[in-house]
Amino acid sequence: MSTPIDESLIVQQLDEAAFTRLAAAFYRRMKEDDVVGPLYPPDDWEGAEERFAGFLRFRFHGNLGYIESRGHPRLRGRHLPFKIGEAERDRWMEIMTAAMAETAVPETAATQLRAFFAQVADFMRNQPG
Ligand code: HEM
Repeated sequence: MSTPIDESLIVQQLDEAAFTRLAAAFYRRMKEDDVVGPLYPPDDWEGAEERFAGFLRFRFHGNLGYIESRGHPRLRGRHLPFKIGEAERDRWMEIMTAAMAETAVPETAATQLRAFFAQVADFMRNQPG
């Protein structure tokens, strides 16, 4: 059973700009990462950051910019080209947790947001280990 997530805490405490800052902190760290970093397109870090920030602004604030440029998120399908097992999932979560701390996401929102990311990250796994 998955933990119910209180999205209202996330939406109240993080405005769209907070998600933009979170994505920037996340990708700055991801670029340096030796486990998950190499999966990302090396010549399009800016584009990847913008797609992720846009998805978060859509997911929590209904900003349609992401949908207008990318269509339906289809997250699992879009992650299938990348080998994602437990190691990749766990490293992704570590980097996200550090990015949330760096951008001072308030603790009550951080708890909910971490649960949201953990559920989606686990759903992205396409390898047994
Ligand atoms: C489990 C570990 C994960 C790995 C290894 C991973 C890896 C990647 C990679 C390599 C890309 C392609 C970069 C690009 O060109 O845009 C990508 C895209 C993306 N990821 Fe992940 N990801 C993970 C988890 C997540 C989670 C948890 C979320 C959201 C909660 C997420 C949301 C996205 C989005 C929105 C895109 C862009 C989709 C598009 O419009 O093309 N990813 N991810």
